[in-house]
Amino acid sequence: MTAAIIDGKAYAEALRARVAAAVPAFVEATGRKPGLAVVLVGEDPASQVYVRSKGKAMVAAGLESFEHKLPDTTTQEELSALVERLNADEAVDGILVQLPLPKGVDEKAVISTIDPAKDVDGFHVINAGRLAVGEEALVPCTPLGCLMLLRDRLGDLSGLDAVVVGRSNIVGKPMAQLLLQENCTVTVAHSRTRDLPGVVRRADIVVAAVGRPQMIRGDWLKPGATVIDVGINRIQIGEGKTRLVGDVEFESASEVAGAITPVPGGVGPMTIAVLLRNTLVAAHARAGLPAPEGL
Ligand code: GUN
Repeated sequence: MTAAIIDGKAYAEALRARVAAAVPAFVEATGRKPGLAVVLVGEDPASQVYVRSKGKAMVAAGLESFEHKLPDTTTQEELSALVERLNADEAVDGILVQLPLPKGVDEKAVISTIDPAKDVDGFHVINAGRLAVGEEALVPCTPLGCLMLLRDRLGDLSGLDAVVVGRSNIVGKPMAQLLLQENCTVTVAHSRTRDLPGVVRRADIVVAAVGRPQMIRGDWLKPGATVIDVGINRIQIGEGKTRLVGDVEFESASEVAGAITPVPGGVGPMTIAVLLRNTLVAAHARAGLPAPEGL
């Protein structure tokens, strides 16, 4: 079998276009654009790249982007004071504090300072709790993007066996909650799971979010399974040469799976598109407007 490629890049472009199309009605109703504040602390090169692309995507979709760059000597108190100011700022609908934060800054303490109504990352315990009990919540961008791709590919997910490999607060746990809401039978596997290949082989849906390059191989998969690869790992392929690979060994997996996301071009582009979506949704909720349709 040769798996169908799940084109996250195309889906993300279409989602960004739907967000952009909904912005003028918001501006008409409120007299302002939806706004996202992105806070970057320190000089982490990967984070700088992410923050730049988030800003660009915001502006391209007609949203307002406020960037706050702070030195890596910033204290927790200074960072929390900035978040408090953004909480109170009427022009700011979403607040994203780019992770990881420098050593010595308590990420949990900073995230807990963010107004849950502006928590477009969905990292605040209030949003995590709302998601867990099935209430309206802002949901972390990457797992929500994965769910959109799964729904687009499979339609109704009810009754399917889903295995999420990885139990992070950012991807694994919220992904499991979302799949439960879709009536999947969900298993969360992790580094201590016994017989991981055997567990993965039961799955109709595999979401790989472990951060280990090419760990999940084709012979671990049930034929026809739908594979969502969240991993983005840079590996050395020769003298000074590197390549981006996922947590799934693409070549062998694509011979067994029914459909698979590539790396790059699968889940990656979805994260920013969903961030735009979450910002627009948060802006509507704050303005007392009904959520825009089709997002
Ligand atoms: N660092 C890597 N991914 C993310 C993300 O989705 N949100 C934030 N805030 N930081 C990140």
